[in-house]
Amino acid sequence: MAGSALHSALTCTPLLTTMPARQIFVTTALPYANGNFHIGHIMEYIQADIWVRTHRMLGNEVNFVGADDTHGAPIMIAAEKAGKTPQQFVADIAAGRKQYLDGFHIEFDNWHSTDAPENHQLAQQIYLDLKANGLIETRTIEQFFDPEKAMFLPDRFIKGECPKCHAKDQYGDNCEVCGAVYAPTDLIEPYSALSGAKPVLKSSEHFFFKLSDPRCVAFLEDWTQNGRLQPEVANKVREWFTVRTNPDGTTSEGLGDWDISRDAPYFGIEIPDAPGKYFYVWLDAPIGYLASLKNLLDKRGQNYDDYMANPALEQYHFIGKDIVTFHTLFWPATLHFSGRKVPDSVFVHGFLTVNNGEKMSKSRGTGLDPLKYLALGMNPEWLRYYLAAKLSSRNEDIDFNADDFMARANSDLVGKFVNIASRAAGFIAKRFGGALGEVSADGDALLEHLRSVAPAIIELLAEREYGKALRETMLLADRVNEYVDQNKPWELAKKEGMEARLHDVCTTCIEAFRVLTILLKPVLPALAAQVEAFLKVAPMNFASLQQPLGQGHVIGQYQHLMQRVDIKQLEALFEPPAQAEPEPVATVPGGEELAPTISIDDFAKIDLRIAQIVNCEAVEGSTKLLRLTLDVGEGRTRNVFSGIASAYKPEDLIGKLTVMVANLAPRKMKFGVSEGMVLAASHGDEKANPGIYVLSPWPGATPGMRVG
Ligand code: 2FM
Ligand code: ZN
Repeated sequence: MAGSALHSALTCTPLLTTMPARQIFVTTALPYANGNFHIGHIMEYIQADIWVRTHRMLGNEVNFVGADDTHGAPIMIAAEKAGKTPQQFVADIAAGRKQYLDGFHIEFDNWHSTDAPENHQLAQQIYLDLKANGLIETRTIEQFFDPEKAMFLPDRFIKGECPKCHAKDQYGDNCEVCGAVYAPTDLIEPYSALSGAKPVLKSSEHFFFKLSDPRCVAFLEDWTQNGRLQPEVANKVREWFTVRTNPDGTTSEGLGDWDISRDAPYFGIEIPDAPGKYFYVWLDAPIGYLASLKNLLDKRGQNYDDYMANPALEQYHFIGKDIVTFHTLFWPATLHFSGRKVPDSVFVHGFLTVNNGEKMSKSRGTGLDPLKYLALGMNPEWLRYYLAAKLSSRNEDIDFNADDFMARANSDLVGKFVNIASRAAGFIAKRFGGALGEVSADGDALLEHLRSVAPAIIELLAEREYGKALRETMLLADRVNEYVDQNKPWELAKKEGMEARLHDVCTTCIEAFRVLTILLKPVLPALAAQVEAFLKVAPMNFASLQQPLGQGHVIGQYQHLMQRVDIKQLEALFEPPAQAEPEPVATVPGGEELAPTISIDDFAKIDLRIAQIVNCEAVEGSTKLLRLTLDVGEGRTRNVFSGIASAYKPEDLIGKLTVMVANLAPRKMKFGVSEGMVLAASHGDEKANPGIYVLSPWPGATPGMRVG
């Protein structure tokens, strides 16, 4: 949209009129509590955070909540492997969340847990309400059972070929390639991901939510197709309603009933009056949105039921495209048929790829580690700005490109925006004692243009068209820079008798900078706070657009507001591969002569720590090495290469505890930097006595404990 088109569209914008504050409840998808945030989580949270801040600046009242998604078999199994209770396991993950959220200025009002009492109560009550509404039934079903592990296999631990699109190695509950949702028994050539065994069928009684009930179908057809979803999402969802009659008279496709129970052992919420039966994690996960909200309102002394009963309350969920089924079918039906408010919309975004569309993969070093980004001293607002510039309201993938990132941050933020203040502020301070002057007609015309385009930019932000909003904002910044170039304050400053004009031009620049800051504030909240301090004004919102700084207002000392991105930071972030060949894993002697005696002080120099293997992958191009991602209780993870590929399958190590040398200097290897060494036992003569045995502590040890 061109600036002039925006200009003429302003008269109809409803956003800045004096309407009563809207009441808005916003969530992001609840992350599984079995790993740290990755850049995809951060992108979603930034997208939602910008939207929340936009609405707050419009004067609307927003509650923005998140929580950890704690239940399910994968977390139960990972906790067991880590020698922890599931509760302890998820608490440890939860403790690591804050540094990411604070680091990227993501301001949730509350962060809770789906294992919290509020969620147990809400989930059980919602289930009872659905049951009273005749939408729950039990059926005995045949389910896959792992004969080696002697347990029913959770969907995520059965893999096989997708029955719809025939993609290989898909999970048992839904296909990540075509998005189909199905029963694990529908998979072609299934296998147990726990043991590799061919699973056998065993019967068990399960609880179903009767989504095939005509009431549900009618409700969902309306809810998904009445304009509340993004058009491309609504179109996709429409396909799931199509019923097809097979030659044998059965039907497939269409809405099937939803299996909402799992058998013990399971980490989850017990189904009332059904001993040994638990809610499937996806039943209670979205209820966690409500639980987190309730927890927030309780803490504030507000009544949750009253808040939810407000007919004007709006409810929105930001989610990724992989979980659309859960949020556009199961979740609205769960809410509606338990007599609760349904979401007003679900905002679906695509995936984030890094550097030219390569799928994010730690083993190829193309991932963007959010904590490493922060640790390198990179400005979180560069990333907020860059991601916002790429985001639209559509469900489409976006790519993080390092060169593009640097160009955008440097040319837009520093070159176009911050530069305006730095060009004018010095003169105001030195020549006019910090006081602003009068603005003459040409300055007024410029400011009037900025203010007249602003509502359309705000509208774009409120429509989640951040890319467009930022492009329009930068066009305004270009206008201001043109004004500076035409008026050349640095020349006015040298000319006799031009004092008043200098004051006028610099005052215009400061006011223009203030307007641009307001428009960028949802994206750059920390920078805006610095500007507010510099301008000596109270926190600004969109109404502040109409309240220019008056003549005589004294501003503060200008301090540089933002550094440029340094290419070295980007190089460090993506760690170019080093030259050296990896050294084999350290082993302790077996059948070897003992090393010379050392003192206790010598020993104390070696900092041995309990480490949890949170991820483990094969290393492409190496038959010896595995790449371990270790949690040593530092709030970040470490990357360690270990020469144990001959002895362990990566998936067998994930979740296990081990011992590592934590203060070994990082080593650059061919495949990346190794940040420590995992201890393993092997025989002195490996050829004669092969075998490598990774050390593992007795149950009870937790990541970060010192060994010695
Ligand atoms: O896909 C996921 O990561 C899920 N943990 C999202 C849950 S969203 C909500 F339903 F809790
Ligand atoms: Zn598929």
